[in-house]
Amino acid sequence: MFQNPICVALDTPDPSQAAAMAGKLKNHVGMAKVGMELFYRAGRVGYEKLAAQGVPLFLDLKLHDIPNTVAQGLTSLMSLAPAPAIVNVHASGGPAMLEAAAKAVDGKARLIGVTILTSLSDADIHAAGFDPASDTAQTVVKLARLSKQSGLDGVVCSPHDIAAIKAACGAEFMTVVPGVRPAGAEVQDQKRIATPRAARADGADILVIGRPITQAGDPAAAAAAIAASLEG
Ligand code: C5P
Repeated sequence: MFQNPICVALDTPDPSQAAAMAGKLKNHVGMAKVGMELFYRAGRVGYEKLAAQGVPLFLDLKLHDIPNTVAQGLTSLMSLAPAPAIVNVHASGGPAMLEAAAKAVDGKARLIGVTILTSLSDADIHAAGFDPASDTAQTVVKLARLSKQSGLDGVVCSPHDIAAIKAACGAEFMTVVPGVRPAGAEVQDQKRIATPRAARADGADILVIGRPITQAGDPAAAAAAIAASLEG
């Protein structure tokens, strides 16, 4: 799929800072992720400044609106130069929204679904109106299936959901996995974590890793060590 499965999360609103970090890391990661904090502040100019570093980008904007609006939003994003490698939408937007999203992206990027945000507890999920009869893991698989049926390429999921999603949706259905921590690294606010090697062994296609790389004294060395831990 992607030669190097490491996607570094550049969680900064500042495109100059993001570009500097991407420049340091470009030989050690396969991709970089930027999100709404950067895009809302710096827009396509900021995005294109970062993209000029030559690292493929995962533009994590998590669209969720009526089908027509999401499709038009994605059409705008597909006109970025270069287009992002990965974009995403909330899978709970429903089948019509997901199908419209897939049609708008039209293979120009990988389109993935956000299932259940890992910041939500079971109680939060039920309060938000999801089926109280099924637990979170089942809801995640249900939304992954819906994403696949609607033409998406994969989902974002926790390390602990990879196996069930691959079993339900097939090995080719991409899993993009945050909550990854090298052995011995600080866990910070992540809850359900796995090492890069364990997540890959479970079938993770992309490992989204932020602070263990970006806050290291030598980010390039930290990324290279993680890449080395995946070999063999
Ligand atoms: O620094 P850290 O490795 O925890 O960063 C993980 C990245 O993945 C952050 O950008 C975070 O917002 C994102 N993410 C996550 N959990 C999810 C979805 C996205 O940690 N369920």
